Amino acid sequence: MSYELKSARYLAAEYLRKILEPGDRAIDATMGNGHDTALLCSLVGSEGHVDAFDVQPAALESTKSLLEAEGLLSRASLYLLGHEHMAEAVNSPVKAIVFNLGWLPGGDHGVTTRVKTTLSAIEQAMDLLQPMGMLLVCVYPGHPEGERERDAVTELFSALSPRDFNVLEHRFPNAGPGAPLCFAVQKQRKA
Ligand SMILES: C[S@@+](CC[C@H](N)C(=O)[O-])C[C@H]1O[C@@H](n2cnc3c(N)ncnc32)[C@H](O)[C@@H]1O
Repeated sequence: MSYELKSARYLAAEYLRKILEPGDRAIDATMGNGHDTALLCSLVGSEGHVDAFDVQPAALESTKSLLEAEGLLSRASLYLLGHEHMAEAVNSPVKAIVFNLGWLPGGDHGVTTRVKTTLSAIEQAMDLLQPMGMLLVCVYPGHPEGERERDAVTELFSALSPRDFNVLEHRFPNAGPGAPLCFAVQKQRKA
């Protein structure tokens, strides 16, 4: 089958599949319904570990059920904690970190990621990355807070020194102004 360009989330998952190996550590900064956490758990294998964060009990419950159903629960620590506290919970370097910003699909749209905490969490994530580790950030600018997140994240990543990080922005220019974007940020070997 030929390669097909799909969504921002799909691109993020492609990078995760490329970079993660059995035994690695990874973080899901926005657990939601657990699809990214489950993918990370499957990629790091039984020797690896995933730390996952969300502020909504419903997200933890969905993720726990999904991981249980897939036999992956022992590979993850699920935190009912904002990702802006990530560095308090995780103190060893990780190979990959994924953010899927916005709200819980099927949940309350009022509980969305917010620019201030998103930026704080991304700063912590960049510190936690091991050399050559990768950060994936999917942004949804189709709502006002998402638009602010897109602008702030773009500004933050644009100011990084290429000596420290390589940054690639993926966007779908013909899909309308609200189309999701995916940023792939890789820490340099000697950052
Ligand atoms: C688009 S969903 C994530 C989808 C998820 N990755 C999946 O695979 O199903 C965004 C999630 O971010 C969560 N969220 C909002 N603010 C947060 C914060 N400060 N820290 C961590 N998660 C947060 C929301 O509760 C929501 O579940």
